[in-house]
Amino acid sequence: MGAALETRPLHPLLGVEIVGVDVRRVDADVFERIVGAFDEHSVLLFRGQRLDDEAQIAFSRRFGPLETTIRTVVSQTRYRQEISNLANVDADDRLIPAGDTRNLFNAGNQMWHTDSSFKRVPALASLLSGREVPPEGGETEFASMRVAYERLPDATRRFLEDKVAIHSFEYSRGLVGEGLLSPEYAAQVPPVPQALVRANPAHGRKAFFVASHACEIVGMPTDEARALLRDLLARATAPELVYTHRWRPGDLAMWDNRCVLHRGRPWNESRYRRVMHRTTVAGDGPTAPDVAEVAVAPAREADVAWCRTQLETA
Ligand SMILES: [Fe+2]
Repeated sequence: MGAALETRPLHPLLGVEIVGVDVRRVDADVFERIVGAFDEHSVLLFRGQRLDDEAQIAFSRRFGPLETTIRTVVSQTRYRQEISNLANVDADDRLIPAGDTRNLFNAGNQMWHTDSSFKRVPALASLLSGREVPPEGGETEFASMRVAYERLPDATRRFLEDKVAIHSFEYSRGLVGEGLLSPEYAAQVPPVPQALVRANPAHGRKAFFVASHACEIVGMPTDEARALLRDLLARATAPELVYTHRWRPGDLAMWDNRCVLHRGRPWNESRYRRVMHRTTVAGDGPTAPDVAEVAVAPAREADVAWCRTQLETA
């Protein structure tokens, strides 16, 4: 093994910057250390990366097979299927007008979530590359569900063990606005079960697993389940537990979707361009067995009110 990886903490509770690494040139030894840092710190930051999509895809693939995107209103066919384009510019490189459905769709990312938890196999990791970043606003915030889990009372931890939540993209986007998902798209993302507690196989440390997409708990009345899910989310995202990343061009941030919540923060969209490209490393299997019934009750007043608070605390 060579010299240790140079790191700097991003926050006392989660995240490190990996210093002096060009992700286009990482040998097997350094890569192994990066994987170790990822399992340990949950959020990694690489600054000053000169990445195009090919290089981002190549580095991301070293962690495992990549997810491909499902086409949505914000998709642009000029990008490879492995790239999620999060941008407020259209295919002709013009700013998308304020209030446009495409921006509203992306506003859903301002609710705390984990990527792809609405898929049967949720994502392992996301890698987000800041290609163009606004001079103010547009931060990404991160919070550790492992840290929050470890702070729960024993009785709560015991209560959560073996519970299964239902995650639905149609539900979470429905909180933001009606009709954001086409029926064809919704049909591709039916509600799915996810374990409410997950352990990292590398070291066994556990985290609870919630997100804006989580909307039911199997065997629990809907109101009670949603109150519990919101409570867990609030515990994880208490301000002192949150790392706020202020983007610089060339930043590549990577996070562990198994145990980290994140959300994008608003910025002046009609003034500043923000172009971020994400690659997503697929998880290695379902987190919970199939369940017979995954009915999702419609959003209630408290649910919509919660969504408003998420979008308005900007
Ligand atoms: Fe996300």
